[in-house]
Amino acid sequence: MKPTIEWKKDRVVLIDQRKIPNEEIWVECGTFEQAAEAIETMVVRGAPAIGVTAAYGVALGFLAINSENGLDAAAKHIFKRLAETRPTAVNLFWALNRMERVYEADRTGGLAHLKESLVNEACLMDREDVEINRAMGQWGQALLSDGDTVLTHCNAGALATAGYGTALGVIRAAVEAGKKITVYAGETRPFLQGARLTCWELHRDGIPVVLITDNMAGYLMKKGEINRVITGADRIAANGDAANKIGTYSVAVLAREHAIPFYIAAPLSTIDFSLPDGDGIPIEERDGDEVRTVFGRPITLPDIPVRNPAFDVTPARLIKAIITEKGIVEPPFTEGLAALRNKK
Ligand code: MRU
Repeated sequence: MKPTIEWKKDRVVLIDQRKIPNEEIWVECGTFEQAAEAIETMVVRGAPAIGVTAAYGVALGFLAINSENGLDAAAKHIFKRLAETRPTAVNLFWALNRMERVYEADRTGGLAHLKESLVNEACLMDREDVEINRAMGQWGQALLSDGDTVLTHCNAGALATAGYGTALGVIRAAVEAGKKITVYAGETRPFLQGARLTCWELHRDGIPVVLITDNMAGYLMKKGEINRVITGADRIAANGDAANKIGTYSVAVLAREHAIPFYIAAPLSTIDFSLPDGDGIPIEERDGDEVRTVFGRPITLPDIPVRNPAFDVTPARLIKAIITEKGIVEPPFTEGLAALRNKK
């Protein structure tokens, strides 16, 4: 599969995830403002993909600067604009912090050098993300057995990352190891990342995928059709509470009721060690029209009140294990995640 995000000398090229599966259109961003808009409008989405795009956005912002006069003010503007795009995925802030450290280290070394360093750092983050996902896949695939049927929610695949995926990376690795895995993809109302994106990318890879509506999960678990759940995450607190796409919490509760292991696959950059628990995770609220319509077509009265939180938080007690690039953490997560953070 062509990468979700591609750097081409002085622009970043993104597959427009709003159009999949009906169209494959590529969007070119030549300015940091265009990169910010691409994140805001969900041309690109998924925590690691947002982080990598933001890093390229910073690089684009600096490439357009031609004078060292007012450099700090220009830098502040670029970082602030990109930080305001989406609030929940901590990978965005992690990537911006990493770029800011490069800026701080190289800001006095000449503009040409600074630009080169920032582009190199963004490209490095892009490459590293794929390696991290592959490592996560290797750890995680050991948790899957031949013949498993795995429910996933939203899209935590190649499209949500620089490549390979987190939750879908674990599934890909299990398939590469010769295991027969069937994926049940929850459609993921209201933005339909499961129906549109997860089905599209698994189908392309020849991995068996069955689409279900979100409200079918309990019934199918009760019938014994699902024996594992794996999702990604947008921000994990130090105690393991994990924010992910709205509906993930419901799936985790159902999984507990049916004694089905619920796993999260996420890189360490998704862990927000500054938050002791999930209560402090900011939850994005999106436009109500996403709920009132399905792809532009009204499904209710135009002014009916709705709620549209884009994420929920699954309490750590419902999570059997968190799969990271450095290993698998089981409860108690506070100790386990802190130990992995320092592991070489
Ligand atoms: O609103 P989205 O589509 O950006 O939400 C994405 C998710 O919730 C994913 O599950 C999460 O970012 C993990 S992606 C590897």
